[in-house]
Amino acid sequence: MDKFVVNGPSKISGEVSISGSKNSALPILAASLLFDKKVTIKNLPRVKDIDTMLKLLKSLGSKISFKNNKKIAIISNSKKNNYFAPYSLVKTMRAGILVLGPLLAKFKKAKVSSPGGCSIGVRPIDIHLKAISKLGVKFKINKGYVNANAKKGLIGSKIRFPKISVGATENTILAACCAKGTTIIKNCAIEPEIKDLTNFLRAAGANIKWIGKRTLKINGVKNLNSISYSIMNDRIEAGTFCVAACLNGGSLKIRNFDAKIINAELEILKKIGAIVKISNNMIEVKGPKKIKNINYIKTREYPNALATDMQAQFMVLLLKANGKSVIQESIFENRFMHVPELRRLGARINIKGNKAIIEGTTELEGAELMSSDLRASVALVLAAFISKGTSIINRVYHLDRGYEKIENKLKKIGVKIKRLSR
Ligand code: UD1
Repeated sequence: MDKFVVNGPSKISGEVSISGSKNSALPILAASLLFDKKVTIKNLPRVKDIDTMLKLLKSLGSKISFKNNKKIAIISNSKKNNYFAPYSLVKTMRAGILVLGPLLAKFKKAKVSSPGGCSIGVRPIDIHLKAISKLGVKFKINKGYVNANAKKGLIGSKIRFPKISVGATENTILAACCAKGTTIIKNCAIEPEIKDLTNFLRAAGANIKWIGKRTLKINGVKNLNSISYSIMNDRIEAGTFCVAACLNGGSLKIRNFDAKIINAELEILKKIGAIVKISNNMIEVKGPKKIKNINYIKTREYPNALATDMQAQFMVLLLKANGKSVIQESIFENRFMHVPELRRLGARINIKGNKAIIEGTTELEGAELMSSDLRASVALVLAAFISKGTSIINRVYHLDRGYEKIENKLKKIGVKIKRLSR
């Protein structure tokens, strides 16, 4: 298993370019199953989760060729596709469940492994199943598999999500876009990745309209047209680099990214004293000499507040703040796995329920650490490069799931990091 060796402290400066969004690419790749015609998807990030989704599509019968060092995938589906998504592929990446909607739309049946829980929480799929069942699908769960059947095909309906869910919104859109008749979906997630998915489907001829802030109207179409589409850039990667710039009074130009998408996070950075300049497709962040504490931040669904996928990175930032800060995690029930590891560096953080109380201005010293999940592991890298001495970060395969060549990008901006492969 690969590990990172990081020597700190280092101050970062320079420029970084943001890669394609993993969380946008995953549902769009799953959507390719809906097409009979060729689909070209550009700006794919070269990360493990994308490889896993491509393997899953191949196992379902898609023919895939690549261009531009695998950043462009050209996908075509033969009539011979199958509708079985095995545990071996879905277990490593929960987004595997996103093939359920498209498979049902195409074959009126699907057998998809249930993704199970993961380290950050239970992460059930009840909301996905309940919404899709409204379109005329019957489900049976057997031996860890979701067996789904819609004998009469998918039929439009009215759906209201009991809770905002990114994955359930995507799966339901994918199921409804070629269903017979009209589907109204209320209380949708409106993350930028969902807008990217609806833009993609619309560009291919789907009849999808946002008719309210969180309400979608979908008139099912018989088929979708061949399309070439470029995935949006990764807001979590961009946000992570913005935080990195602030940790040690560094400064960074973040290229290839529309700042509006991470407005909530940039507002918090301004509150801690960072100088943020926005120009066309670029963000310039200069970290303050003294980081101000934040009394209270809560993670929430987009666009209201800090993204849960940025919580761990902001916690590292607040370790360096002048005073006490509180972060409340409201999306996942077990998303403080990075805390015991940060404590190994000397961090003073108390957990009370879903709140982390962070004592600021802590001097951190390098130590050996263990990654537990994707965003926790990037937070450990950030913490390691502001710690004095050497840190070793184990199990960086978590990080490889979602960050493209992060060590190369960090090296270029002044972080002393190297990968040890076995
Ligand atoms: C997606 C993102 C992930 C991000 C999360 C929240 C991808 C591939 N992953 O995950 O990076 O952290 O959104 O922004 O895009 N829930 C249920 N039942 C369900 C579905 C969800 O109870 O059927 C719960 C979850 O356990 C969680 C909350 O709803 O507590 C939100 O989860 P959801 O928005 O669905 O997250 P994902 O789509 O899995």
